[in-house]
Amino acid sequence: MHKIAVITGAGSGIGRATALALHRDGFTVVLAGRRKAMLEETAALANTAPPAMLVVPTDVSDPASIAALFDTVQSQYGRIDLLFNNAGITTRNIPIDDLTLDQWSNVVAVNLTGSFLCAQHAFRMMKAQTPRGGRIINNGSVSAHVPRRNSVPYAATKHALTGLTRALSLDGREFDIACGQIDIGNAATTRNEDTARGRLQASGKVEPEARIDVNDVARGVAYMASLSLDANVQFMTVMATKMPYIGRG
Ligand SMILES: NC(=O)c1ccc[n+]([C@@H]2O[C@H](COP(=O)([O-])OP(=O)(O)OC[C@H]3O[C@@H](n4cnc5c(N)ncnc54)[C@H](OP(=O)(O)O)[C@@H]3O)[C@@H](O)[C@H]2O)c1
Repeated sequence: MHKIAVITGAGSGIGRATALALHRDGFTVVLAGRRKAMLEETAALANTAPPAMLVVPTDVSDPASIAALFDTVQSQYGRIDLLFNNAGITTRNIPIDDLTLDQWSNVVAVNLTGSFLCAQHAFRMMKAQTPRGGRIINNGSVSAHVPRRNSVPYAATKHALTGLTRALSLDGREFDIACGQIDIGNAATTRNEDTARGRLQASGKVEPEARIDVNDVARGVAYMASLSLDANVQFMTVMATKMPYIGRG
């Protein structure tokens, strides 16, 4: 029996690379995200031999859409072994005094409430299924440790995810549910193409930064997912060796 993984934001970037890595490792992967065509592209990139990839268009800012996703997983497979809470958005370079409540609320809805609701559905299934248990991996960021300038909603929600990870780890123990977090720094995806050209630094200068291949991140998530439920990577930081995160003036 193949293990069942659900990945949000599986139509691009880190989510897509991780879906392909987990599929290579023998998982059946449920691909969730808003854009169906992007999810289908991910499925097409995988070797079509079993285990399968299942496309389930989902908006994680909509609780009913999340419920429908997990209903589908339950009816198709009757269990879930891994949830990768990967979908995430940001407001790029908007100073706090210009932020609208809608902009703040959208980031909270996707990054935090969406991750919470997916985790809640997964937790309920993992607790009830036989064999019991499973793993939840949250996609944090190095922004869960330190912020960039003009990133209040992103930094706040990514810091909050660390709390979600720790709380789920504790509450999951008695049900064989492990929870860990991957904190990425500068993976080369379309959302951060500007990073290679020039990003605003803490000093106020704009400078280009090093980025890494998404597959380096995907291998990290696949390693976390490969462990027995007796073992857990609580936090893993995978970042560009030469990015300016480590260091001080
Ligand atoms: N790249 C980096 O350097 C880096 C660093 C730290 C953390 N991260 C985290 O990694 C995750 C993935 O980012 P990425 O770099 O791979 O960028 P990306 O390609 O923009 O991926 C974001 C994914 O989230 C999905 N998404 C957005 N809103 C959604 C919603 N309401 N419902 C369902 N899915 C939604 C998007 O698909 P749809 O638009 O089709 O819904 C997209 O596939 C994010 O959580 C990000 O914060 C990335």
